[in-house]
Amino acid sequence: MRKKMVAGNWKMNGGLASNESLLQQLRSVDVSRAGMVVFPPFPYLQQCVDHAAGSGLEIGAQDLSEFENGAYTGEVSGGMLAELGCRYVLVGHSERRTLHGETNEQVARKAVAAHRAGLVPVVCVGETRAERESERTEAVIGSQLAALLGVAGSDVLASAVLAYEPVWAIGTGLTASPEQAQEVHAFIRTRVAAVDASRASTLQILYGGSVKGANAATLFAMPDVDGGLVGGASLVATEFLEIHRAAAFAA
Ligand code: 13P
Repeated sequence: MRKKMVAGNWKMNGGLASNESLLQQLRSVDVSRAGMVVFPPFPYLQQCVDHAAGSGLEIGAQDLSEFENGAYTGEVSGGMLAELGCRYVLVGHSERRTLHGETNEQVARKAVAAHRAGLVPVVCVGETRAERESERTEAVIGSQLAALLGVAGSDVLASAVLAYEPVWAIGTGLTASPEQAQEVHAFIRTRVAAVDASRASTLQILYGGSVKGANAATLFAMPDVDGGLVGGASLVATEFLEIHRAAAFAA
């Protein structure tokens, strides 16, 4: 049985004082049935790692460089994140793909860089509304996965988490129905199984896109939905804890 997990992507939100109060409420979470990880902006990682110490709460970064070090102004390496105490890193979030032009191949190289640094890459895939409406969802996600599996291979999958985030559901209040999410999660698992069947059965696949306390339980009840990657609702402690409870009880 795969353990459920909820992940909170803070995006470019937060501040020293508001982070502290949020972390105070999250750090007492019981992670025996469902894990919890938050992804704050880079400047707050040290604060969050310090606050999470001794608790079950894990910390991750929102991005990393595909390179280990060198003349890459503004970039942050996986080694730096690991040294700081991060355990996870988001890779290929749709906002990185659309706003910063990250390609499927670059996303795959970042997953490899994360793996080499001892971090767990949370690799995001998903289709736009136009792609779904033209029935290209599986083709798009299939090519995102093909690049990952081709470049990174199953070694990287050994420590990776995947996240299905339909672009049309991110920050829009539109959530994929549990059946829509299940259909894509099952497709992802089948594609991974073609490369590594045993890894496919243990791989955690998170759903992201307008997950809230009110819709989390029905999404997490789906057999291939192993938890959530939560944006806006992860900034509100009561809401994020409710989503976590839904994951713990769905386990
Ligand atoms: P929302 O939960 O705000 O839709 O964001 C989802 C997301 O992009 C998480 O990475």
